Amino acid sequence: MDSKKCSIMDSKRKIKGQLLYNLLVNSPYRDYIIGMDQKIKIDGVTYWHPRLSNISKKAKIGEGTVIHAGVHIHDEVIIGKRCQIQAGVMLFNGATLEDDVFMGPDSKIANDAKLEDRDVWTAVPTLVKRGAKIGMGALINAGLTIGEYSKVGMGAVVLQNIPDRETWVGVPARKVG
Ligand SMILES: CC(C)(COP(=O)(O)OP(=O)(O)OC[C@H]1O[C@@H](n2cnc3c(N)ncnc32)[C@H](O)[C@@H]1OP(=O)(O)O)[C@@H](O)C(=O)NCCC(=O)NCCS
Repeated sequence: MDSKKCSIMDSKRKIKGQLLYNLLVNSPYRDYIIGMDQKIKIDGVTYWHPRLSNISKKAKIGEGTVIHAGVHIHDEVIIGKRCQIQAGVMLFNGATLEDDVFMGPDSKIANDAKLEDRDVWTAVPTLVKRGAKIGMGALINAGLTIGEYSKVGMGAVVLQNIPDRETWVGVPARKVG
């Protein structure tokens, strides 16, 4: 079968699937259908609404970690044990989170600090150390280290390393505690 025909059949199948889904979620079985993919646990990691996330199978994720909806986790990402990855978090290649890290909703770690043109893409390592808490909407530039048990305020833009147990806020982030 030629590829055009195949793709038309694929789209028809998708439309049929969507219609069936719409029919079911508007039926008395709604709670069951919606509940089906609400939360799953694989290898000790909890995923909320996994179909809304883009999580690479190559990423290493430690036991006890909880990953919320709408999350982006690329291949070369390492996440420790018991971390909290809130909704909307983006972790690109090179990001490493040690154990017990909290990534607040919509916080993100870049992997290209200078927006350079490059022929060969290499991940720039960024490390968030044990127990650090990153507030919602905070942005961390590539190549930095966020210290143990440090806190980053909501909405901060972090452009330099943060030492252990300090609190940094603002744009650009500065030490407040
Ligand atoms: C960073 C944070 C933990 C600091 O809390 P704190 O230690 O109690 O600090 P304070 O409220 O005493 O604030 C200290 C200073 O930082 C400022 N500040 C605090 N948070 C700030 C922020 N996010 N952005 C900019 N400035 C901030 C305060 O205005 C204050 O400034 P001042 O000394 O000039 O008055 C807290 O403000 C924060 O951002 N929490 C994140 C909440 C969050 O994202 N939760 C996620 C789960 S939903």
